[in-house]
Amino acid sequence: MTLPQLGATTLADLQAPVLARLEDVTAEMRRMIEEDLPLISEANEHLLQMRGKMFRPTLVLLADQATGGPRQNAATLAAVIEVIHLATLVHDDAVDHSTLRRGMPTINALFSHQVSVIMGDFLYSRAVVELVRLGNLDALRILSRVTTAMTVGEMRQLLAHDPLAFTEEQYDLLISAKTASLMSGACEVGALHAELPYRSALASFGEKLGMAFQITDDLLDYTADEAMTGKPSGLDLREHKVTLPLIHALPKLTPGERRALEALMRDPEPGEQAIASVIEAVRTHGGLDYAMGRAQQLIGEAEEELSVLPDSPARETLRASLGYILDRRR
Ligand code: IPE
Ligand code: IPE
Ligand code: MG
Ligand code: MG
Repeated sequence: MTLPQLGATTLADLQAPVLARLEDVTAEMRRMIEEDLPLISEANEHLLQMRGKMFRPTLVLLADQATGGPRQNAATLAAVIEVIHLATLVHDDAVDHSTLRRGMPTINALFSHQVSVIMGDFLYSRAVVELVRLGNLDALRILSRVTTAMTVGEMRQLLAHDPLAFTEEQYDLLISAKTASLMSGACEVGALHAELPYRSALASFGEKLGMAFQITDDLLDYTADEAMTGKPSGLDLREHKVTLPLIHALPKLTPGERRALEALMRDPEPGEQAIASVIEAVRTHGGLDYAMGRAQQLIGEAEEELSVLPDSPARETLRASLGYILDRRR
């Protein structure tokens, strides 16, 4: 088998070894969230149609295969993790007033804010019901910690009153909580029955990879357009959300650029031009390069964690997933 070089991997490459099992994950998700009540079943249908990249379930299945799997309940655990992910997206889009997700209208746009709040809770609850049904206390322990961390992370974001005072340290804490925690949980849950050193190496691998994933996601908000990501671009700035590229460029801005940024932050609905000029200033002052450099460093650290695992095709696919993150377009 010839493996793609780091940096030249597609999502399809990563998913090829687990493609059939990903179908099981989808079927398991459908079973878990099924409900007769009209509004819930309509929202469920919409959510199942707006299928995402299934990156977290892919991590669960690869971690399982890299540590002696395939094990029987890995697809069910992977489905639980994707349902938790879905719950956080439904809540996040309501909190962020986002109207587009995965190229389709969000639950808050299609139904209402009330429905989003209730649907997010419903999805979380069904994930917990499933973990209890499995009697898997370890998975329940890991994932209840993860969901707590994610909730605290979302609240942390809300508390950042003065976006221009947001530091890189605070940013790191935020992305660890809101993104890396679930990816770490996905990798660890996939290795639940493996020896402890493998399990903790995969948990750290997921944490580093998750941090890099969110940094590249924030970079895509600066560099990619909606047709690629399925989310509007420049949205973070429009929502006055400060991410790593801007944090790095901030102290380097000229007085004029700083004034333009402050005006954007005061404007409840900043225009395209104002957003484009801030993006340009961030690029000029090396904010995009810096963020890419940090993502690369984290990817290197994640790769080191893998050296603990025995050599296997699944381990090499996990390695290739690091290249996918650095190179991803959506
Ligand atoms: C979106 O996650 C939330 C972030 C952590 C940026 P994904 O980019 O994995 O979204 P889907 O599941 O593919 O839609
Ligand atoms: C995504 O957060 C949701 C979580 C990771 C909990 P963001 O608000 O930063 O990301 P997008 O842009 O909506 O995907
Ligand atoms: Mg959001
Ligand atoms: Mg958000």
